[in-house]
Amino acid sequence: MIMAQQHEPMYIQYFNDECRPLSFYLEKMNGYAASKKAFGMSQDDIINEVKKSNLRGRGGAGFPTGMKWGFIPKQSAKPKYLVCNADESEPGTFKDRDLMRYTPHLLIEGMLIAAFAVGAHHGYIYIRGEYTREAKLLQIAIDEAYAKGYLGKNVQGSGFDFDLTVHRGAGAYICGEETGLLNSLEGKRGEPRVKPPFPAQAGAFGGPTVVNNVETLTAVPYIINKGGEWFSALGKVEKSGGTRIICVSGHVNKPGLYEINAGSMTVRQIIDLAGGVLGGKKLKAVIPGGSSAPVLTADEIDVIYDIEPLMKVGTMMGSAAMMVVSEDYCMVKLIQRITKFYAHESCGQCTPCREGCKWMEDVLERILHGKGREQDLNLLLDITDNIAGKTLCALGDAAAGPVASFVKKFKPEFEAYIRGEKHG
Ligand SMILES: Cc1cc2nc3c(=O)[nH]c(=O)nc-3n(C[C@H](O)[C@H](O)[C@H](O)COP(=O)(O)O)c2cc1C
Repeated sequence: MIMAQQHEPMYIQYFNDECRPLSFYLEKMNGYAASKKAFGMSQDDIINEVKKSNLRGRGGAGFPTGMKWGFIPKQSAKPKYLVCNADESEPGTFKDRDLMRYTPHLLIEGMLIAAFAVGAHHGYIYIRGEYTREAKLLQIAIDEAYAKGYLGKNVQGSGFDFDLTVHRGAGAYICGEETGLLNSLEGKRGEPRVKPPFPAQAGAFGGPTVVNNVETLTAVPYIINKGGEWFSALGKVEKSGGTRIICVSGHVNKPGLYEINAGSMTVRQIIDLAGGVLGGKKLKAVIPGGSSAPVLTADEIDVIYDIEPLMKVGTMMGSAAMMVVSEDYCMVKLIQRITKFYAHESCGQCTPCREGCKWMEDVLERILHGKGREQDLNLLLDITDNIAGKTLCALGDAAAGPVASFVKKFKPEFEAYIRGEKHG
């Protein structure tokens, strides 16, 4: 794994060697000092500090974390829960894996503080099934934390009780969507729920629930230790605080995780940071935020890599997974492969997504194999229109947006297949 850093990195100096045991966390990372401090604060003060920090969800939607915590009712007849989304299922994303692998106690402490702030006494880490090693490492860290009084009854003598359970998924993309995840956690089919009610009202087991991504929660100890303003100032654009871990993959010379101050670099600069396009070739395209993000052409990469700037150019930052495509890669093959993934992963609950994703896959497949028709490109756009915004969860949009962007931006490549000049 190759990493680069900019300014004040929070994480990547730990992304090598071994999993950091409790002793390392306590001695070298000021471990469990933030939770001790938090136990001396009121719940509202903690939430306000997180609001001040401009921490936004790192799972894909970029929702302000402090605001999300503020939605949890103070009083509740049912127990409240904190759930860490460690499903990391968006293709191209691999940052949560390293956070859990190398700094598991940072996540445990972040969860401890978040749970205290919202009054949850049980937390779950829902981790994707393929992350066998990380699930084991997390369990070792959790056991250490229980043994030393950082989890369990009366944590650090605070009077606060907090239990933490690792729950392994079975490798389904849809279980990264927070309500699909909650159903799966409850032992049901991993199908997204109708919203409202939102998880803050009725989440896990019907209780008010916060669902946050791994990276989001690992930022919390820093915010409490160093203050919301410190964290906010790390961000170089108005609404985003902290640093971002960017997963750079595809045709670059040095793929890996890169931590940058939020909003401090353009897409082009990040590609340069990752050693430039593989083999000195020309850039063709960039998928900036995981496979759900509409594609950018090589002419569109002088945009700041953060939530709002990317939205302004019609795409999204998502889970900060940047996939780089060089000049000689076939865009038709690429979108066909991506669409095959979504057709396979659609849970089938909503007709537009279940049928539409499969239709898109079939149409792309026939184009690729020389059986495309002239009207197929309009047909594809028509299908995307019939999926986007018409499903219970955002999987439909995740599948439709990329297809529409590929067809619009790389039309000549599709047309060459339809004219029979290229074959898959
Ligand atoms: C189809 C789909 C898959 C998702 N997969 C993930 C995932 O693997 N990890 C994640 O943290 N969020 C994922 N999300 C976003 C979650 O629904 C949710 O917004 C997130 O866990 C909230 O945490 P955050 O506010 O800390 O980002 C996914 C959303 C959708 C629609």
